[in-house]
Amino acid sequence: MENLIDEKQKFKVYKNVFDNNTINNVWELLTHKKLLGLESPIKLGKEGNVFSAIDSKGKRIAVKIYRVTSCDFFKMRKYLEIDPRFKLKKSRKTIIEIWARREFLNLHRARKIRASVPKPIAIYKNVIAMEFIGEKNKNEMPIPAPLLKYAIPKNPKEFFNKLINNIRILYHGNVIHADLSEFNILNYNEKPVIIDLSHGLPINSNASDEMLARDIKNVSRFFRKLGLRIDEEKIIKKIKTK
Ligand SMILES: Nc1ncnc2c1ncn2[C@@H]1O[C@H](COP(=O)(O)OP(=O)(O)OP(=O)(O)O)[C@@H](O)[C@H]1O
Ligand SMILES: [Mg+2]
Repeated sequence: MENLIDEKQKFKVYKNVFDNNTINNVWELLTHKKLLGLESPIKLGKEGNVFSAIDSKGKRIAVKIYRVTSCDFFKMRKYLEIDPRFKLKKSRKTIIEIWARREFLNLHRARKIRASVPKPIAIYKNVIAMEFIGEKNKNEMPIPAPLLKYAIPKNPKEFFNKLINNIRILYHGNVIHADLSEFNILNYNEKPVIIDLSHGLPINSNASDEMLARDIKNVSRFFRKLGLRIDEEKIIKKIKTK
């Protein structure tokens, strides 16, 4: 128990970043033994704050905390409007909790069909625990796998094919990422791992074709710069084919 209190104190160091509710939500995961403690921040951003952490079995995991106070609330609402799975709620806090739940659900769906995404572990309100993509040995530094943007694949064609294959798997598992780009793909030892599934939509939503086309456009733009010739229409057809 004392350890846990230490952890809570340690987390309060970030009190300018998190509100009290969030600190309590992390505390819930700590007390329910999903988490042993936080290690260090990987990214303290505008919406998503990601920490490396250690789980109750001593394994390194990633903890993503959605911020309740300063996120782009209206953009989030707009995105939720096109997802038939969620009823729209007004309060900022509920919207963010739905947002976190949506990422968790999408990760869960994606893993079930063996798409290359972090394995979801636990969720409590606006806090998600998931597999850490990077150095998993807890005696080593918690170095996350780099973003595709900053880690150019050694073989771009091979990497692109693996990526498209994963987008196809996701599609047939009823998930369209809807925010895909080189900023939401990790290059984990030359293997793509798709992250940040909080925008992810089922294929029966109104905007799904538009979102899939945008995802393909974004990744194609990146890989064209690396010399690949890409026919987006053809790729989309391939993704949709059973
Ligand atoms: N499971 C993970 N393992 C390792 N690193 C991760 C993991 N999930 C996220 N990250 C790191 O944290 C960063 C932010 O994560 P993510 O893209 O999910 O959040 P975000 O909402 O886009 O945050 P922001 O709006 O600040 O970009 C990623 O760019 C990546 O570097
Ligand atoms: Mg992101």
